[in-house]
Amino acid sequence: MPLVALIGGQWGDEGKGRIVDALAGKARMVVRYGGGNNAGHTVVNKHGTFKLHLTPAGICNPETINIIGHGVVIDPKILIEELDSLEERGISTANLYISDRAHVIMPYHVLQDKLEERARGDNKIGTTGRGIGPAYADKVARIGIRAGDLLDQEMFLARLKPIIEQKNQVLTRFYEVKPVPLMETFLAYVRYGVRLMRHITNIHPMIQRELTQDAPILLEGAQGALLDLDFGTYPYVTSSPPGAAGACQGAGVGPTRLNSVIGAYKAYATRVGEGPFPTEIALDDPVTETLLQVGTPWAEVGTTTGRVRRVGWFDAVLARYTVEFNGIDTLAITKLDVLDTLPTIKICVAYKLGDEIIYTPPSSLVNIKRIDPIYEELPGWRTPTSHIRDFHHLPPAAQAYVARICELVGARLGMIGVGPERDQTIYAARIF
Ligand code: GDP
Ligand code: IMO
Ligand code: MG
Repeated sequence: MPLVALIGGQWGDEGKGRIVDALAGKARMVVRYGGGNNAGHTVVNKHGTFKLHLTPAGICNPETINIIGHGVVIDPKILIEELDSLEERGISTANLYISDRAHVIMPYHVLQDKLEERARGDNKIGTTGRGIGPAYADKVARIGIRAGDLLDQEMFLARLKPIIEQKNQVLTRFYEVKPVPLMETFLAYVRYGVRLMRHITNIHPMIQRELTQDAPILLEGAQGALLDLDFGTYPYVTSSPPGAAGACQGAGVGPTRLNSVIGAYKAYATRVGEGPFPTEIALDDPVTETLLQVGTPWAEVGTTTGRVRRVGWFDAVLARYTVEFNGIDTLAITKLDVLDTLPTIKICVAYKLGDEIIYTPPSSLVNIKRIDPIYEELPGWRTPTSHIRDFHHLPPAAQAYVARICELVGARLGMIGVGPERDQTIYAARIF
């Protein structure tokens, strides 16, 4: 299975980083294909714990080529800090390449993101405030700056000047804040370009060469399919396509080349930011405390913004929906160990909308807020699972829970996470 996409199947933070880190040892290349530093991917291995925002999570494998693909939006300052910090910790970044086509987050994008959120008031989206939406909007409006532009000073200045003039009109007149200085911004970004020069390249031939040789390639997703612009709970979504279609577009591979799409799902559900969450559990419910895991390194606190995540039961209606529109054939179920102490566990199997029972999420925000989840209740296993490495050694109730999820969503089991570390993984199918 040479070309595999690993995508988030829920609202993000499914543990994509740890799965990529575990699989990267067998991959020739890892390509992060979308999002920006709104992402926070945690990797725990023999080198330590890493919170990666832009660097592909295969970086701890020195033999693996790590690529930041065309579909990513890059804040160069954040990326440079991340690369410096990795080098300081003994992780080589020599094998990291950045697509010259990837767009760059500029200071006015970050400003715009924060000002737009403030202007939304009670209707705020709860963005990460990293300039993601405005950067993708400018890409689509054809006024974006690309990584390759930073390496050609004359062309960069000629492009940036009219863009900053236009941005400053909005910033000073509409939002009544200070303008963004042209030359200061230009010089800072030229410096970033110089620092990143040895990494920025045309990645297309690199990826095509490996594809031709049938080398194992892993496409690394950011965010989750339910944050997708078209299929997510619009407008409470991110501004990129985090799913399998986005993987092809953002890495520059044709859909016919994909051999497998792995969907990463937590054994329950979490969401950060605003927006509907049908199976959300109230903050004062005792189950919430178990799912939040406060006090542990894997507590449900945002890797990027430090916000406490909302938690809920596994929603098989939404999970089947993300399996369907992404062609997910294999599941990676993480954080099964978090459920170890619960006496019973619920799975949402359908929704009640008025008098109707439905098995697919309604597209209207009004209706999705009105639905009542219908739950199936399964017995818990009340036994630690973190030390287990074989599916058949899991307690029967844990095996039954996982099997039921696979049955409800319609995909085979690929792997299970029973702890945050690289080797705390149960493999149930061959991936590469
Ligand atoms: P990502 O954005 O999808 O890469 O996920 P995050 O890193 O933002 O959030 C996942 C969190 O769960 C991190 O703290 C991980 O260390 C942790 N984690 C991942 N898989 C497991 C698992 O199987 N068990 C436990 N206990 N923690 C896990
Ligand atoms: P990883 O890759 C969880 C959410 C934000 C907000 C919405 C829009 O770690 O899974 P944005 O800044 O993208 O415009 O915010 O999307 N969001 C994430 N939630 N994990 C992420 O990434 C996320 N990236 C964006 O919280 O609700
Ligand atoms: Mg995350």
